[in-house]
Amino acid sequence: MAKYLVQGGLPLAGTTGVHGAKNSILPVLAGSLLNQSTEEIRLKRVPMLGDVRAMVSILTRLGARVGYDGSDLLINTADLNCYHVPDILMREMRSSIFLMGPLLGRLGRVQICYPGGCAIGDRPINLHLEGLGKLGATVKEKDGYIEARGRLRGGEVGLTYPSVGATENLMLAAVSARGDTVIYNAACEPEIVDLQNFLNTIGANISGAGTPRIRIRGGCDLHGGTYRVFPDRIVTGTLLLAGVITRGSITVTGVIPEHLTALLELLREAGVTVEVNGNAITVEAAGPLKAIPRVVTGPYPGFPTDLQPQFLACLALAQGESNVVERVFESRFHHIPELCKMGAQIELSGPQARLRGVDRFKGAVVRATDLRAGAALVMAALAAAGNSEILEVKHIERGYDQLPETFAALGARITREEGARRELSLR
Ligand code: EPZ
Repeated sequence: MAKYLVQGGLPLAGTTGVHGAKNSILPVLAGSLLNQSTEEIRLKRVPMLGDVRAMVSILTRLGARVGYDGSDLLINTADLNCYHVPDILMREMRSSIFLMGPLLGRLGRVQICYPGGCAIGDRPINLHLEGLGKLGATVKEKDGYIEARGRLRGGEVGLTYPSVGATENLMLAAVSARGDTVIYNAACEPEIVDLQNFLNTIGANISGAGTPRIRIRGGCDLHGGTYRVFPDRIVTGTLLLAGVITRGSITVTGVIPEHLTALLELLREAGVTVEVNGNAITVEAAGPLKAIPRVVTGPYPGFPTDLQPQFLACLALAQGESNVVERVFESRFHHIPELCKMGAQIELSGPQARLRGVDRFKGAVVRATDLRAGAALVMAALAAAGNSEILEVKHIERGYDQLPETFAALGARITREEGARRELSLR
């Protein structure tokens, strides 16, 4: 099991870029299955992430031909011939649930195992299944498997919660449906806009993404095309917060600042100098942060749950008492016990974490439990006095490409070490 070794206490400084958004590239890859033509789709500058490799494996198993041309991904799905997503791949990456829409649309059938929960919560898929039912699919759940069949028809779907994945799944299903679809109370995240822009590039006719009401014209003939997803706003936020927690100064270029408005406002409230120049953001934190009485996560454009662990790590070093409320997932605080090993003073009560700021973290051996919790621990280790080890970094590498190299280029002392492989007991 690989780990990161960090010698903390060094302020980060300098300028860095950011790779394409994981949470855009995954639904876009699923959406490529909708293209029945022999024309290929070229996705520009795709990050080498664990989740991207998992999705590419699934597409390949379903009959797509996927190849790399440098950092571009070339996809031809004309020979799609399988509607069953292999269990082992389904379980490796739960977000493959939004393959249901394209497979139903293309083949009229899809069979997957239940993706199950993960470290941050149960993550049910009722909104996905109910929505597909409203578009004409017959959905059966039995013994941990889901089978959906039928010829999709357009309709009106109101989501009881603006679920990102359900919005994406229903957009993908509606593209192939007969007739038009309107999704109400849709998620407004930038990744939804990215998916709309991609699908329209290959011939779909969608409008309204980024607002709670999305209209999808069904039955368009799709074709190949070239697309590049947005820069990853969560990785951008993580890099900026690493500059803040180490009391350095970092510029991230090639970003879309308006995707991070909620974070930038909170940083200014905490006393950080924030400058936005075109597609670059610079943060500078010469001293400790001011505590923030209450930070609440929520759907976009609210403060993103995917930056909650990272921001919480910064507040653990702020002057005074802060509170962080996690409203999106029911158990997204696994980073807290690990931060407490480094000296943080945090009390958890249900969805609320109460933090009393401390002056410094001390280095420790900590374990990544999920993607963003792991990123928060790397940031804390960079700020800590002394050395730290972060174990099980495979979680982090699902969503961060070259994170140690990126931080090292900004002055951090961090290396990646392939830990001893867990020898299977053959006795
Ligand atoms: C997407 O997950 C992202 N993943 C998550 O990023 C992100 O945290 C989340 O959206 C919220 O922004 C990808 O895009 C691959 P949801 P998703 O459906 O689609 C409940 C990361 O770190 N819900 O908006 O699963 C659900 O339990 C990951 O990059 C239902 O109840 O998020 C949760 O409480 C983590 N029923 C809330 O909605 C459903 O059918 C938000 O979930 C679906 C969701």
